[in-house]
Amino acid sequence: MKPDLVISTMNWGTNGKNFSIDQSADLIKECYNENLLKFDLVNISGDYSVENLFGNALQKTGINRDNIKISTKCGILYHQSGVNNKIKTYNTSKKNIITTVDNTLQNLKTNYIDVLFIQGQDYLINLEELGTTFTELKLSGKVKYFGVSNFSTFAFDALNKKIPLITNQIEFSLIKPLALFNETLLQLGYLNKKTQIYSPLGNYFSNKTNSNQKLNEALAIMAKKYDASISQILLAWTLKPPYKITPILGSTNIERIKLQSKAFNIKLSHEDWYKLLKLSTEKTF
Ligand SMILES: NC(=O)c1ccc[n+]([C@@H]2O[C@H](COP(=O)([O-])OP(=O)(O)OC[C@H]3O[C@@H](n4cnc5c(N)ncnc54)[C@H](OP(=O)(O)O)[C@@H]3O)[C@@H](O)[C@H]2O)c1
Repeated sequence: MKPDLVISTMNWGTNGKNFSIDQSADLIKECYNENLLKFDLVNISGDYSVENLFGNALQKTGINRDNIKISTKCGILYHQSGVNNKIKTYNTSKKNIITTVDNTLQNLKTNYIDVLFIQGQDYLINLEELGTTFTELKLSGKVKYFGVSNFSTFAFDALNKKIPLITNQIEFSLIKPLALFNETLLQLGYLNKKTQIYSPLGNYFSNKTNSNQKLNEALAIMAKKYDASISQILLAWTLKPPYKITPILGSTNIERIKLQSKAFNIKLSHEDWYKLLKLSTEKTF
């Protein structure tokens, strides 16, 4: 199966690997050479620095901007031109979205964003105003498509009626499978939308969440059975639901990214998938 993967840049910035422009350019080129052409950004990443880093790095690679897809996010307001909030807030007002998009385009050194996400469900969201703002951005050519992240099923449905959304970017992994139980996955599948999933490995490798010995043992057995690595089994598990699932890989290491893209060829059996879910959630079905 052709891997539909998105490469995250969230770990490239000051709160992650603190990449230089050269390191970022190298990773963009390496992904490009593997035909991994979709990159996901967040405007506030690395204290508002990663978009600019990516824009500079992309220029350095010499890759034509039209040959890659760039998604980025807006809707969280911290501090940016003229604003100095003391706390982070959600803000989906027209003023904030338009200002953010203009800053983003400048940082990325491009005149369009492929997919603009609203990051997080603003409790003060005005669906009418946001729908009009999206229409304006689309007509101006600044944004091609729209998505949301971490929206409830109802909120997705409500905004999707104002302007078609292409996806809801949500957390989903064997370690954090909530999207199964709150029916976010089912809704997107039903609507024939893509489901972009972030943290598909569920922080398994950070050592904080892998204290479940039974799960660790089962993963090791599955890895042997499917001739795969544990990270591939974790990813293959997220790809099993029969929907259009697009994982966002947070790795900054091209060898790991290459390995993970092969997980699309691993078909876990129905029983193995449920076995892992049971062990992870300690649920009985
Ligand atoms: N929309 C939202 O609200 C939201 C929220 C959180 C995250 N996200 C997005 O989702 C992205 C993915 O999150 P994530 O970082 O948790 O992604 P992930 O793909 O689940 O995990 C990747 C992390 O695991 C590490 N890792 C260690 N061993 C690994 C192995 N064997 N194979 C693969 N990775 C291994 C990677 O380090 P190396 O870099 O050293 O490989 C990297 O730090 C974020 O970067 C962000 O863009 C979105």
